[in-house]
Amino acid sequence: MAKETFYITTPIYYPSNKLHVGNAYCTVIADAMARYKRMRGYDVMFLTGTDEHGVKIEQCAQAQGVSPKDFVDNMISGEGGILDLWKILNISYDRFIRTTDDYHIESAQKIFKTLYEKGDIYKGVYKGSYCAPCESFWTSSQLVEGKCPDCSRDVSEAEEEAYFFKQSKYAEQIMKLIPDYLEPKSRVNEMMNNFLLPGLDDVCVSRTSFKWGIPVELDPGHVMYVWIDALSNYITALGYGNGKYNDFGKYWPCDVHLVGKEIVRFHSIMWPAMLIALDVPLPKKVLGTGWLLFDGEKMGKSKGNSADPIALSERYGVDALRFFLLREYNLTFGSDGPFSVELLISRINQDLANDLGNLVSRTVSMVEKYFGGTLPSEHVAQPLDNELIAVAENLHKVYAEHMDNFDFQNAFSEVLKVTSRANKYIDETTPWVLGKDESEFPRLAAVLYNLLEAIRICTVLLIPAMPDSCEKILGFIGAAEEMKTFDSTISFGHLSKNVTVSKGEILFPRLDIKKELEI
Ligand code: MSP
Repeated sequence: MAKETFYITTPIYYPSNKLHVGNAYCTVIADAMARYKRMRGYDVMFLTGTDEHGVKIEQCAQAQGVSPKDFVDNMISGEGGILDLWKILNISYDRFIRTTDDYHIESAQKIFKTLYEKGDIYKGVYKGSYCAPCESFWTSSQLVEGKCPDCSRDVSEAEEEAYFFKQSKYAEQIMKLIPDYLEPKSRVNEMMNNFLLPGLDDVCVSRTSFKWGIPVELDPGHVMYVWIDALSNYITALGYGNGKYNDFGKYWPCDVHLVGKEIVRFHSIMWPAMLIALDVPLPKKVLGTGWLLFDGEKMGKSKGNSADPIALSERYGVDALRFFLLREYNLTFGSDGPFSVELLISRINQDLANDLGNLVSRTVSMVEKYFGGTLPSEHVAQPLDNELIAVAENLHKVYAEHMDNFDFQNAFSEVLKVTSRANKYIDETTPWVLGKDESEFPRLAAVLYNLLEAIRICTVLLIPAMPDSCEKILGFIGAAEEMKTFDSTISFGHLSKNVTVSKGEILFPRLDIKKELEI
């Protein structure tokens, strides 16, 4: 039987600047979800990419005296660029779309033409307040103290001939459908109150004031306004309107579009309206996340670096950074969260060094110390073991509930409760006392075996957060491939009774917060 599919997307990022840890957040949660779904047996399509057109890119290229295409090529493929960043962060995307790719341009033009022929795109004159850096037009009621509500910069009155997408025609349908696909629900209210109930405006979808965009074929001089071009990536990347790929039928409708809160309106109103107009089914879910907030003051001179995900992963480790982003924040439920290096370090110390790392190194060291690295086959169980075993065997259920709900924070917190429980089990069973008396060795072997199994289960469930470190830990404890699957976490007892362990490097050294922040 064919596997069930799961299609997940990130926003396509503007390559106008280096991406920061806030951008990386969204991609890391998409990656963790993609890895989790693969582990659950899904055929996953994980799409990310870059949104390369628009006036902002044109201006950046001009400032550097290079062509827009050379500029974006360098931002994407150059050293320390977006592709490097995703490689460093171990992002397991299946496809990477660039809106400058020929096949995407071909499809976006077809989409524009179809919408025009259906009467859903028409020519008009745009008059309004325009924020050039955000490439957004705003109505007077949306401006905040006369400034752009997204970036607080000045807006200018703009008037020019332009094509418009008749999204107002779809307002009623969107109002009915939006509660089905937009999450969290607080965003539904926001969209209703800010955009849908006051009366939906049509959207300007072409510009004549800049050149760096996909040409509107029916009217030379116009290039597409960036959102028609950008949003359509989610279907053109599957081969909609082009011959490059052929999996639109397989993966569409998308299971989840992950987006930041300021672009929820494009994804939950304009995009569904485009899809209805194109006769394409709507995505199953648009999930709007909050933002990581930066408090420059506290971070002092390291602020620039502290927001750079490459610098952070070089200093603290890729998996520590990934784990921190997933464990610390619950931005998928709508709130924002403060980012700071202090928080990152304390999370590393608390969860990874003290809890998980300590459990692994204590357990492996004891197997080496008392048994030369290989457990004997004779194990003596005691009733005391049952609680640890039950807690570990039940973990997958609550973990999966949280993961399926994009609640990484609680999913991983549940895993860490089990590592804490295992650390407590060491104190309860006092292996150092058992180790003094040879007649207690079968009991000691059982204790260490239970610890290794608890570690195995926890580590497998942490793979979506920390793929490389978990692979290493599973290697230290002698887990074979079939003991690294989600299904193998449902029950205890997969490691061989006389398993051989090996002590590896310390994966999560304890950090001195004071020293780190002085750097
Ligand atoms: N190109 C558009 C998206 C088009 S999708 C069809 C865009 N690009 S962006 O590079 O400006 O932003 C990409 C994503 O990064 C957005 O979802 C945005 O919310 C997210 N973030 C930018 N800063 C962020 C934080 N500080 N915290 C969390 N997410 C952040 O918008």
